[in-house]
Amino acid sequence: MRILVSGGAGFIGSHTTLQLIAAGHDAVVVDDFSRSKRSVLPRLEALAGRPIEVRVVDLTDRAATDELVAGGSFDAVIHFAGLKAVGESVEKPLDYYRVNIGSTLSLLSAMGRHGVARIVFSSSATVYGADAAVPMKEDLPTSATNPYGWTKVMQEQILRDAAVADPTLRVALLRYFNPVGAHASGTIGEDPSGIPNNLMPLIAQVAVGRRDRVLIYGDDYPTPDGTGRRDYLHVEDLAAGHVAALDRIGSVAAGVSTWNLGTGTPTSVKEMLDSFSRACGHELPVEVAPRRPGDIAESYADPSLAEAELGWRATRTIDQMCADTWRWQSSNPDGYPD
Ligand code: WQD
Repeated sequence: MRILVSGGAGFIGSHTTLQLIAAGHDAVVVDDFSRSKRSVLPRLEALAGRPIEVRVVDLTDRAATDELVAGGSFDAVIHFAGLKAVGESVEKPLDYYRVNIGSTLSLLSAMGRHGVARIVFSSSATVYGADAAVPMKEDLPTSATNPYGWTKVMQEQILRDAAVADPTLRVALLRYFNPVGAHASGTIGEDPSGIPNNLMPLIAQVAVGRRDRVLIYGDDYPTPDGTGRRDYLHVEDLAAGHVAALDRIGSVAAGVSTWNLGTGTPTSVKEMLDSFSRACGHELPVEVAPRRPGDIAESYADPSLAEAELGWRATRTIDQMCADTWRWQSSNPDGYPD
C-alpha cells in the first residue's frame, strides 16, 4: 500500500518507515522538521536501499494538508507527527492542543474528502492516567494528568467519533509504553532536541560524555528496588507492531481497534542503569534526586490483545535495547548533524 507517514523523520516514524518499505509498502515521509533533522533522510535511504519520497508539510495547515492528500494517492495514514514532551506541554498547553489536535483534524478532514479510509494512530500508555492498575489492559478508562496526555486522550476520542460518522473509516489506536533502542546499524536512533525528558536518551548522553550524571528521580517508590518501573520496548518491535496493525485494519478490523504495544515486563531505573553499564562497558555516574512530579511507581502493559489479534509480540531484551542505543549514541555522540 502507499502510506502517508506523518512525522516520518522522527524517532519512531523513521524506524517504521524502514519496516514499511521492507514489507513492500510505498512509504512517503511527511514532516515539517520542527523536531527532527533532514540529515536522517539519506541514512534512511541507505538502509532502505532506495529513494524515499519526502513532503515538507505543516499538518496544522489545513489547505496544505488537503493538497498533500488530494495529490498523494494514499491508501492509509500512519500518524506520528506531534509534540510529545510532558513538561513542555504544561508550560505551553496551547501549542500542544493546536499542533496535536489541529494536525489530526486536518488529516482526518483531508482523508474524508479524498477517500483515504485507514489510519494508524500513535497513542500512548499515558492515556491510562495516574492510578491505573498494572498490567494495563485496553479496556481501562482513559484520563490524563498533563496537557500532552489530554491531547492523546482527545485524539483517540476524535478518531472514535470520526469512525462512527464514517463507517468506512478503519482506525488502529496503538498505545505505546516506553519506546527505546535504535536500528541495529547504529546509523539511526533517538535524538531528542534539547535536554532529554526520557530516561534512555539521558543515560546514553551521560554514557557518551555529553552530560555528567543520571539523576534517579526517587528511590522510595513501592517497588522491589525503590525506583520507578516501566515497560520499555525496542523501537524495532514497536515499528513491527505498526506494520501488523496496518495489515490488520486493511483486511478485517472495521471501525476502531485499540492495542497496547509493550512487552508486559517492567524494568526499574536501577536495572536499566545496570544493563546500560554492561552495554557501554563502564559505570555511569548517578545521583538520587527527589521524585519527579506526576511520575507513577509502575507502568506496564498487558500485551495479550495485540498478540492474539495482531500476532505481534515484542522480542528484544533490555540488554539488546541498551546495546543498540549505545551503538547509535557512541557512533553519533551529538545525534544527527544539522
Ligand atoms: C522513565 C522512568 C522516571 C528520567 C514518558 C511520558 C509518556 C511517554 C514515555 C510519550 C521513570 C525515571 C527518568 C531521568 C529518572 N512519552 N527517570 N531520571 O515518564 O514513563 O513516560 O515517556 O508518549 O507519555 O510520560 O518515561 O523515560 O521519562 O521515565 O529516574 O532523568 O525513569 O522517574 O520512572 P515515562 P521517562
